Amino acid sequence: MTHPIEVHQLSKTYRLGFLMNRRVRALDKLDLTVREGEVFGLLGPNGAGKSTTIKILLNLVRQSSGTALVFGREPSSADARRLLGYLPENPAPYEYLTGREFVTLAATLGGVSSADRPARVSQVIEMVGMGQHASLQIRRYSKGMLQRICLAQAIVHRPKLLILDEPTSGLDPVGRRQIRDLILEERRNGTTILFCTHVIPDVEAVCDRIAVLVGGNRVREGTVNELVTSSVPLVEVTVESLSREKFDALGVPFNEVHAIGERLLVRTEDAHTQALLQKVLAAGGRVTRLLPARFSLEDLFIQAMNESHHRVGGRLL
Ligand SMILES: Nc1ncnc2c1ncn2[C@@H]1O[C@H](COP(=O)(O)OP(=O)(O)O)[C@@H](O)[C@H]1O
Ligand SMILES: [Mg+2]
Repeated sequence: MTHPIEVHQLSKTYRLGFLMNRRVRALDKLDLTVREGEVFGLLGPNGAGKSTTIKILLNLVRQSSGTALVFGREPSSADARRLLGYLPENPAPYEYLTGREFVTLAATLGGVSSADRPARVSQVIEMVGMGQHASLQIRRYSKGMLQRICLAQAIVHRPKLLILDEPTSGLDPVGRRQIRDLILEERRNGTTILFCTHVIPDVEAVCDRIAVLVGGNRVREGTVNELVTSSVPLVEVTVESLSREKFDALGVPFNEVHAIGERLLVRTEDAHTQALLQKVLAAGGRVTRLLPARFSLEDLFIQAMNESHHRVGGRLL
């Protein structure tokens, strides 16, 4: 069975500098499978290798080693291109075309028949909420409008696989919500989606499965639920009347402490709660609140980055 995306031991080293004698390892033996019909989130800090992975799948960049297949085909094959829709990270479309002309061009290049084209173009322009601005030149568009018209361009030829590189960055909350709704609507239509981002709430809202990428490696993979519940339960304790120094001197294990005004907000593993409470009270501190703390995707992201902090960004070789 072929999957929409299969990446195996994929590595990419860029050459830099005037003499091309400096090298950056952007991907290091990456493995990734995206299954039919899912929204797959590729999550990672800046420089993790997300865009490089996408560009290899689109045949814009050539890998140094390993394989990347789109529906079982090499990215360079014309078939692979036709099955794909792509929203680039920083879209720069032809500025002097109107939104409608731009989407029509994409429809033509994407193989939408001329009989079907006008209706399909109008349909996707409506879907992205650009009906009122379709006859305006693209150079007059705001960032959010640009993002939407480029999304219309990416879906107009009914691709089976939609690749979105940071589709919501730079958008206001309303724009982000609209893009998220559109992603979910495309999934309902059976489109497989690869969604790359460093915006964590978006991932929680739309992704079926995610992989966290740091330094060109996959450091986590699973469903959002698996990733946030497989970890140890945490408790959040609010402590008053105890200085940070005195708290540290207690020697109780904790994950995080934040001083907020006169209070200390302590996060610890459930198993350490009793010991923490006893020592805080014995030292004259007061415990004013105790809550189960859900291990969030954000915690996971930060934990994954800390574990591999020496690998954030591409590795200079
Ligand atoms: N064309 C390029 N030439 C040289 N280095 C590059 C190029 N594109 C990306 N890189 C480097 O590769 C690493 C991964 O970049 P990228 O794939 O853009 O990450 P992300 O999309 O996750 O932010 C970074 O260190 C980046 O500086
Ligand atoms: Mg990127």
